[in-house]
Amino acid sequence: MTGEFDGKRILVTGASGFVGRHLTRRLLDGGAIVTAVDVLPLPESLRSDESGRALEYRQLDIREESAVSAAVGSERWDLLFHLAAIASPRACAKDFASAYKVNVQGTFHLLQASSNVARFVFLSSSAVYGAPERIPIDEDHPRGGKDPYAMTKILAEDLCRTYASNYQRPCTIIRNFNSFGPYQEAEYVIPSIIRQGLTKHEIEIWNSEPVRDFSYVANTVDAILQIARAGGESVYNVGSGVGVRIGDLATMIASKIDRAMPIRDLRKEVLGSPKLVANVDRLRGLGWSERVPLSPGIERTVEWFRQ
Ligand SMILES: NC(=O)c1ccc[n+]([C@@H]2O[C@H](COP(=O)([O-])OP(=O)(O)OC[C@H]3O[C@@H](n4cnc5c(N)ncnc54)[C@H](O)[C@@H]3O)[C@@H](O)[C@H]2O)c1
Repeated sequence: MTGEFDGKRILVTGASGFVGRHLTRRLLDGGAIVTAVDVLPLPESLRSDESGRALEYRQLDIREESAVSAAVGSERWDLLFHLAAIASPRACAKDFASAYKVNVQGTFHLLQASSNVARFVFLSSSAVYGAPERIPIDEDHPRGGKDPYAMTKILAEDLCRTYASNYQRPCTIIRNFNSFGPYQEAEYVIPSIIRQGLTKHEIEIWNSEPVRDFSYVANTVDAILQIARAGGESVYNVGSGVGVRIGDLATMIASKIDRAMPIRDLRKEVLGSPKLVANVDRLRGLGWSERVPLSPGIERTVEWFRQ
């Protein structure tokens, strides 16, 4: 994709996060003029740019309306990718007030400041679907999510729609399933299993039965970029379209770590729906296909954790 975003002025919120840093790196390598926004410092992996261009970085809290307005409202942007969020469902449940302020009010501040943004791309979540009525889940599936994280994403999606319909803010919504890869925090299932595999003599999993849709982060970024290029006031699922049992995932990871390692199923209560798999037909219709399948994606992630 070299040169694909040549000269485009792009703002990424949540650029220091897991998906944000992969997306920002790809945009820089594709020739974009990127401004990164995050409440955390800029990560080391984004400080050097192979092409020699500097990344503009604004450390700010999206809960602060005046700071957002000053950073976003003063310039014209070809694209704004809004990823900043309290992205952990557990953290949202623990502190719903903070989740609301960041995920809902923060999104409101960004939309309000976006009169000079040609396209606003919002990273929502498969959590909005709640307990699915059908598998795989297509974008027209009702939004039944009721937990605090899901609710903040539903409200933020509706803010995007309101701004798109009433205030000329072209907006695209992406419902991401489960991305994995380097830089993901250890509380999520794949990094947690890899860490245990590398440091312990046994892998404990919460419950082996749930089925989830995992996507290596490079595929997620491919999808986000493809969707941004397509434009349009649409909603897109981003996932692999393939369901994997957590027990099978743990076995696969253990085999990559190459140590004879028992896997203990704690058989704890399943958090969320027993089965979540994306229908990615709409995304495929844009020409997207999975570049890094699950198995090599796991290998790359294990390698990164080893280092
Ligand atoms: N990773 C996934 O599998 C996944 C799945 C579904 C949806 N999503 C969504 O995609 C986006 C990116 O997810 P991620 O996994 O990279 O999450 P992440 O937690 O790694 O990154 C989120 C970033 O937002 C920043 N942030 C949090 N509060 C902020 C604030 N008040 N002001 C400015 N920045 C703030 C954090 O510092 C962090 O760098 C999130 O919106 C998340 O809800 C991710």
